[in-house]
Amino acid sequence: MKIMEISGGKELSGTIRISGAKNATVALIPAAILTDEEATICNIPEITDTDALCDILKALNVKVSRASESIVINPQEMQDIEITEKFSKKLRASYYFMGALLGKYKKAVMYFPGGCSIGARPIDLHLKGFEALGAKVTNEKNKYIVEAEELKGANIYLDIASVGATINIMLAAVKAKGTTIIDNAAKEPEIVNVATFLNNMGAKITGAGTSTIKIEGVDYLHRCFHEVIPDRIEAGTYIIIGALCGTPLKIDNVIPEHIDSLLSKLEEIGVDLEIGADYVIVSKANSYKPTTIKTAVYPGFPTDLQQPFTVLLTQSNGKSKVVETIFENRFMHIPYLKELGADVTVKNQTVTIIGPSTLKGSNVVATDLRAGASMVVAGLLAEGTTTITNIEHILRGYEQIVEKLTGVGAKITIKEI
Ligand code: UD1
Repeated sequence: MKIMEISGGKELSGTIRISGAKNATVALIPAAILTDEEATICNIPEITDTDALCDILKALNVKVSRASESIVINPQEMQDIEITEKFSKKLRASYYFMGALLGKYKKAVMYFPGGCSIGARPIDLHLKGFEALGAKVTNEKNKYIVEAEELKGANIYLDIASVGATINIMLAAVKAKGTTIIDNAAKEPEIVNVATFLNNMGAKITGAGTSTIKIEGVDYLHRCFHEVIPDRIEAGTYIIIGALCGTPLKIDNVIPEHIDSLLSKLEEIGVDLEIGADYVIVSKANSYKPTTIKTAVYPGFPTDLQQPFTVLLTQSNGKSKVVETIFENRFMHIPYLKELGADVTVKNQTVTIIGPSTLKGSNVVATDLRAGASMVVAGLLAEGTTTITNIEHILRGYEQIVEKLTGVGAKITIKEI
C-alpha cells in the first residue's frame, strides 16, 4: 500500500508547470478509435487514468505507442469486442468507449463505469442519447449492450448539462447519417478540446462550448495531430496551495479564462494574484475574508475545486459556506478536515466553515480524487506531519504531484508500506 507523508507549514516558492487536462485526455483517448487512420495526441498527462485507458485500447487490439508526453493511437487492426468488467470499473471515463465503439461499429458491449464515489452518477442521459440516434440498449445487472442497425442524426435535449453525456453523444453521432443537435449541452473547455480533436480528423462539429452543439455526420475520419489543453483543475488546486503557502508561487501553462470563477472568488476573499496570459502568480496573505461558493456547470464554480477551496476557507476570518449542487456525496473530506482541526460542518449539501483555524497534522484518507487533493492542500498547510492513505485516488488525476511540490520547497513523499 502506498501512503503520502507531508511535513506541513513550509513556505513554497518557485514555478509549477500544469500538465494536460485529465478530463480532456480521458475522452480524447477513447475518441481516437474513431479515426480510420491514426491519431497523435500530445501533452498527455502521466496519470494512472491514462494507463487504464491505454490498457483498454490494447485489449481491443489497438496499436498504442507512448513517448514522453505524446501518444500515437492506431485502430486499424482493432477488434470490436466486449470491454470486461475489470476494465470498465477502473475509471469513470471508460464510458466514453460506449459512444466511440457505437459510433465506429454500431455496437458496444461494456459494464457500468467505475470512478469516484461522489454520488449515484447514473448514465441514463448517455443511453437516452444513444437511443435517440437509433440504438437499442439492453442491460443485465451491470452489463450494457448498445447496438444499432444504423445511427441517424437526431435532436437531443439533455435534462442536465452533463459533461459525460455531451461528449458520449458527440462520439456516437460523429459518423451517424445526417445532423444531430445536442441542446442544453455542457460547455466545459474539455468538450471544446474533444470537438476540436474530432474536427481535426474531419468531423463536422460546431457550437462546442455553447449550449447547442451541431454534428453533421461524416463517413471517414482521417489522420490527425492534437494537443491536450492545460488542466484547469490541477491549476486551480496549485493556485489554492499558493494562496495558503506561496511566497510567491508561479503556476505556469494555465488558460486563466478557464478558471475565471475561481480567480474572482480568490480576489474577493483577498488573495494576492498576478494573472498573466498563460500563468498566475499567487502569494499567501495574512488574513482572508469569508465567502460563499456554490458549485455550478461551467463557467460556474467547478465542483472539482470545491473540496480544495474549502481548505482555503478554513483560514478566512468568519463564517463561509460551500454549496454543492452537482454531486450529492462530495463531502467525504469533511470528517478528515475536522480531524486536522478545522471547524467545518455539513448540512443539506452545504458546508459551513468557521475560520480561521490552526490545522495540525494527522492521519487522513483520500476518499476520492478531489477529496484527496484537498487533503494534500490541508497537509501542506498543517503544522507537523500528515499521513494520507488511499492515495491511488490522487495519482489518478495529478501528474508528478510529489515532484512538482518538492520542486517548490514542500516536504512530501510517497512511501510503500
Ligand atoms: C465530469 C468530470 C468530473 C466533474 C463533472 C462535473 C470527467 C471524467 N469527469 O464528470 O470531474 O466533476 O464532470 O463537472 O470528465 N447525470 C445524470 N445522468 C447522466 C449523467 C449525469 O443524472 O446520465 C448527473 C450526475 O449524476 C451529476 C450531474 O448530472 O449529478 C453532472 O454530471 P456530469 O456532468 O455527467 O459529470 P461526469 O461526466 O460524470
